[in-house]
Amino acid sequence: MLSHDILIVGGGLAGLAAALESDPNLKVAVISKVHPLRSHSVAAQGGINAPLGNHPDGADDSWEKHTFDTIKGSDYLADQSAAELMCRSAASAIYELEHMGVPFSRFPGRVIAQRPFGGAGFPRTCYAADRTGQVILHTQFEQSLKKNVKFYDEWLVTDLLIHNDRCLGVVAYDLKSGEILPLKARAVIFATGGYGRVFLRSTNAFINLGSGLGMAYRAGVPLKDMEFVQFHPTSMFGKNILITEGARGEGGYLLNNQGKRFMEDYAPSAMELAPRDIVARAIQTEIDNGRGFEDQYVHLDLRHLGKEKIDKRLPSIRDICINFGGFSPIEAPIPIQPAQHYSMGGIDVDETCASPVPGFFAAGECACISVHGANRLGGNSLLDAVVFGSIVGKTASEYVKGSQEFPDSESYILQKSLNRKQELEDKAKQDSGENVFQLLNRLKAFMSDKVGIFRNQKDLSEALEQIAQLRQDFKKSYIRSSCLRYCQEFVTFSEFDSMLDIAEVITLGALNRTETRGSHFRTDFDKRNDAEWLKHTLMTQKEAKPEINYREVEIGKYQPVERKY
Ligand code: FUM
Repeated sequence: MLSHDILIVGGGLAGLAAALESDPNLKVAVISKVHPLRSHSVAAQGGINAPLGNHPDGADDSWEKHTFDTIKGSDYLADQSAAELMCRSAASAIYELEHMGVPFSRFPGRVIAQRPFGGAGFPRTCYAADRTGQVILHTQFEQSLKKNVKFYDEWLVTDLLIHNDRCLGVVAYDLKSGEILPLKARAVIFATGGYGRVFLRSTNAFINLGSGLGMAYRAGVPLKDMEFVQFHPTSMFGKNILITEGARGEGGYLLNNQGKRFMEDYAPSAMELAPRDIVARAIQTEIDNGRGFEDQYVHLDLRHLGKEKIDKRLPSIRDICINFGGFSPIEAPIPIQPAQHYSMGGIDVDETCASPVPGFFAAGECACISVHGANRLGGNSLLDAVVFGSIVGKTASEYVKGSQEFPDSESYILQKSLNRKQELEDKAKQDSGENVFQLLNRLKAFMSDKVGIFRNQKDLSEALEQIAQLRQDFKKSYIRSSCLRYCQEFVTFSEFDSMLDIAEVITLGALNRTETRGSHFRTDFDKRNDAEWLKHTLMTQKEAKPEINYREVEIGKYQPVERKY
């Protein structure tokens, strides 16, 4: 049986940071459903936050100010010591990346360039033009090869194996051979990213189906704060490709159909650089009230920035507009609409990235520590991935060195992989039933319609009914493909139960939270309610049903006050 000390599931920024920080004397492997360089981190555009003070307007920045901005941006739901840990680690994380070889953009004098981003008191977002995720991921990957990390590329993990309260390994599907195989591990780290494709309109890659969260949930690990879903204000209309916040950081304007910079009505000081939840709601409000174009989008105008700045700072945005929109942003405004972008919630882990289950750890977007609370600031996700990816590598290494081999784990793991195989064979024997791709389209459509930027009791209840119906229909689904090699139908089939669980946990958390906070806006409870709701939601699967608990938010020196921008 394949066996490792540490098995890291996911080859994006958090997964590779974990691999690089794991003890080199341990047997470490990264397993990823795509080649690591195709992980969704590669699509991160605008940058990564650290209070370096390199921008002429940033000299007074500090990790304390970054911490405050992060907590205020989170609508006070972040655990304050976790946010402090991330922001205190930010500058050294950037210098470490720089020393690894990350080609950041530079200011005159060769210092790392920084730009303004939403919700930040100072320009502190370090960037490599608008390809920041790509250059960090490539550099980390080169370093991982140098360190001889073992990679299982194009292996989809289908089950997390937890037995007698201990994590023992995973079951995985090797896309190339079509086989279902067990992998034993002393420690498993999930760095599986987000679940964006549970929604119809998402900036996420098609691989982001969220099965990491679903597997953890079904194995009994709690999910935290899942009702907090980030909608990025600016995705290209119709395609929902990300148009980086860096475009507004560089000075882009948002305009409605009257040519007005409407953010002055919503965030008169911060304007286009208010936090994402506020800007996304403002755009949707303009569209809903007839001030958009074709009732569907507004304009992001970059024309006044000029060709030189656009070519230098936003070259990929220019390419995206030309290749996917047929126009140049130097000559025409970009039609944009909000789209799902990020999950503030995730697998419940502490500041060391340990879950409540010994041997199981998580970091990056699939994890909730919580540093982003109810709304993440742009530029803090790459930071979270790099900082907590490194921390989890160390935590898991220490755990493995101090733990004993679990007796009889192999027979348990083997049985679980045989069960998975049997389920698959049974589905393949059926010759009629529901088509999983059609079920997926139904799920996405109502999640975007009923669990989107504006929520209410009626829509959320209807969404829960539709999820229950989809569960019944999914039982009748079957696999039409006869060959399991690179079988996208099997990939979708094996991730779909996770998607249903995620959809249910998001919707139920949103229905129960009768307040408005950060990204969670209830039109029927449109105020923040600290007296009742300054707490984290925890959902644990018990007998195939979600059990809800709540945990107090850890408040440090910043008492919650109303957010104003
Ligand atoms: O807009 C962006 O470039 C995205 C950044 C982020 O999600 O942090």
